[in-house]
Amino acid sequence: MPSHILISGGAGYIGSHAAYVLRQQGYDPVVVDNLSTGNAWAASFGPLEQGDIGDREFICSVCEKYKPVAALHFAAFIDVAESVRNPAKYIENNRDKAAIFFKTLNSCGVKKIVFSSTAAVYGETASVYSTVGGSGPVSELYPTKPINPYGQSKLEAEAYLRMMDADGLRSVTLRYFNVAGAAPLEAQIGEAHLPETHLIPRLVMPLTDMPQSFLSALGMEKDFAIYGSDYSTPDGTAVRDYIHVLDLIDGHVRALVYLLDGGETAIFNLGTGKGYSVSEIVAAARKVLGRPDFMPKIAQRREGDPAVLVASNSKADRILGWKPTRSIHDIINDAAAWHRSSLYQDAMKAKLKAAA
Ligand SMILES: NC(=O)c1ccc[n+]([C@@H]2O[C@H](COP(=O)([O-])OP(=O)(O)OC[C@H]3O[C@@H](n4cnc5c(N)ncnc54)[C@H](O)[C@@H]3O)[C@@H](O)[C@H]2O)c1
Repeated sequence: MPSHILISGGAGYIGSHAAYVLRQQGYDPVVVDNLSTGNAWAASFGPLEQGDIGDREFICSVCEKYKPVAALHFAAFIDVAESVRNPAKYIENNRDKAAIFFKTLNSCGVKKIVFSSTAAVYGETASVYSTVGGSGPVSELYPTKPINPYGQSKLEAEAYLRMMDADGLRSVTLRYFNVAGAAPLEAQIGEAHLPETHLIPRLVMPLTDMPQSFLSALGMEKDFAIYGSDYSTPDGTAVRDYIHVLDLIDGHVRALVYLLDGGETAIFNLGTGKGYSVSEIVAAARKVLGRPDFMPKIAQRREGDPAVLVASNSKADRILGWKPTRSIHDIINDAAAWHRSSLYQDAMKAKLKAAA
């Protein structure tokens, strides 16, 4: 018997992939999204209930209508640089509204929640990197010291959710590292942020020869810039752990099954355990996209960006049986196919027109 799963933020990049995979696996996803940054076209794998996670009455009415057995909570603001400029916006949406959402779900009988958190809760981990001299994986026991309001807002939402365990609400917090890539093109979903701040799309799109006017409108330069080449890493550029969005969603489905089977409240990292510097990602993109001529420029570091973030994923492997299977080449290929597609380009042109 299929079960309704409530997906907050299911019109966004990662939430839409969750709805796609859950639908394929026989669940009935129900998307709750206020479309503040998401796209109605991405919420095509079940009903879209448009509204805000902080609106108790609305969330209760959705719970009454569908009787979801669990919720996956993706809805949030995600732009680190914006969070530095406007911390209150992030604390309000990512922490305060999340707390209302958790409480409302619990009171409406939805007592299993999978929460999208982030490696940004760990903050600066470069010291670990240099002491181990390798990929410097960060386990869930690593101290949490976020260095930007985005990470802080997520950490505080995590703490609130864990506190609700005492009220019978069981949760899995998933701390993601850098999510990228896309589902196969026939799914018609992919990363579509405005402005686009993530490295893989910012790198891939200029390499697919999009017109400068389109790139500028999306908040990008024709020349991809490496932000900072003076970090304490082997080649001076920041090191990150890139996880394919479909591997990430496989982790969510396993977390969901774990909770439905009676699993206890827990935290898991979802990353590959392998770090790539920005220069290494650029080299991979040159190879995968056939652009050996490509030479990025170097720009200033961005505020709030740590030098290194690489996951230890052994806990997710041990308890959830989760292992990422897709490579950095898969990520670049799938992202490029999505950004080249007319669906992506037409959708972003329509979004830009509506915003003008
Ligand atoms: N993209 C990444 O690399 C990454 C990395 C770590 C963690 N995360 C986490 O994953 C989650 C999803 O990220 P994403 O990249 O898909 O972001 P996204 O912006 O594409 O999607 C977020 C969705 O949430 C919706 N939303 C925001 N506030 C809402 C509210 N108050 N009520 C209802 N809907 C609301 C937006 O309209 C949007 O559709 C976020 O919680 C983010 O913190 C993302």
